[in-house]
Amino acid sequence: MVTLDAIRKPVAEALEQLDATIAQAFVSRIAPAAEMVDYGLSSKGKRIRAVLALLAASLETPGAAVGQRALTAAMCVEMIHAASLIHDDVIDESSKRRGRMSLNALLGSHNAVVAGDYILARTISAGLERGHSDIVAHTAAAIATLCEGEILQSLHARRSDTSRADYLEIIGLKTASLMAVSASAGSLAAEAPQQRVEAMHRYGYALGMAFQIKDDILDYTACDATTGKPSHNDLREGKITLPLIAVLENSAQQRQSQLLELLCRCRDDSEAVAALSGEVIRSGGIAAAETAMQSYADAARAELEGLPDSPARSALLDLCTYTGQRER
Ligand code: FPP
Ligand code: MG
Repeated sequence: MVTLDAIRKPVAEALEQLDATIAQAFVSRIAPAAEMVDYGLSSKGKRIRAVLALLAASLETPGAAVGQRALTAAMCVEMIHAASLIHDDVIDESSKRRGRMSLNALLGSHNAVVAGDYILARTISAGLERGHSDIVAHTAAAIATLCEGEILQSLHARRSDTSRADYLEIIGLKTASLMAVSASAGSLAAEAPQQRVEAMHRYGYALGMAFQIKDDILDYTACDATTGKPSHNDLREGKITLPLIAVLENSAQQRQSQLLELLCRCRDDSEAVAALSGEVIRSGGIAAAETAMQSYADAARAELEGLPDSPARSALLDLCTYTGQRER
């Protein structure tokens, strides 16, 4: 079993420096703002995006510490992610995140929206104050892409005609885009050749697709206590993700209608949620989604072929395996 701790090892020191870099960026004159941001940032999550940026930078300097530019890249992508989750919980009206109350549940949606905005604003200013405008420009471009994904996703919620192509477009925008930018920002920070920056962008994108498909599988299969967020939330929100899409693709029209009718009842009927998730699992929806996820993980691995062996390369390969094995 690949562990995240082993993957983090080549950049463990840099991850500690990242804590200090983030703390420095978020010094506020206003105590309540500092408290809000503290709460929003104190449960650090897996920090996959920061790890991606640091490992991609480390590929260019094997055996040596990554520099300040890589720390800026890691800070930017991780903080964009943190802000996006705070806003996502407001949009989804979700009460739990990373095993604790979400910021909106604790302080109300209006405060959570501003806290997310504040994190984005401070991140961009801090990156510029550190003199790394190229990295800020590269990473900040992902903010608009995440918003596009969210807009598209909300247009599709509770619509019965979400196709596999629609789904892949949405997860490409809302998740894979930031993972792609995380990996490529690390390369850019380390002044890698353009070809490498592009290969790492493709690597991060494919990994991000696998990552989100796994997230959507876990929404069916994992329990709240493991993931730290409410399970079956997608069904309750009327979100059609790959496990259900795969079952719909293989069902005759009458059964499709039955399943979609069940989906309509999921918003406030927990028996409908249990019935539909059971049907999806029994009909092979999880297995089909696992197959798609593995092919993205393989595509990510292929981008690393031909690179000289190094601890960072091994960790990036392990990240592909971890993505498929993870339980939270
Ligand atoms: C989690 O997905 C959410 C995202 C991947 C992106 C959310 C993006 C926005 C809210 C746009 C605004 C962006 C910024 C930077 C302010 P999910 O809902 O599938 O996963 P979950 O189960 O963890 O909530
Ligand atoms: Mg959500």
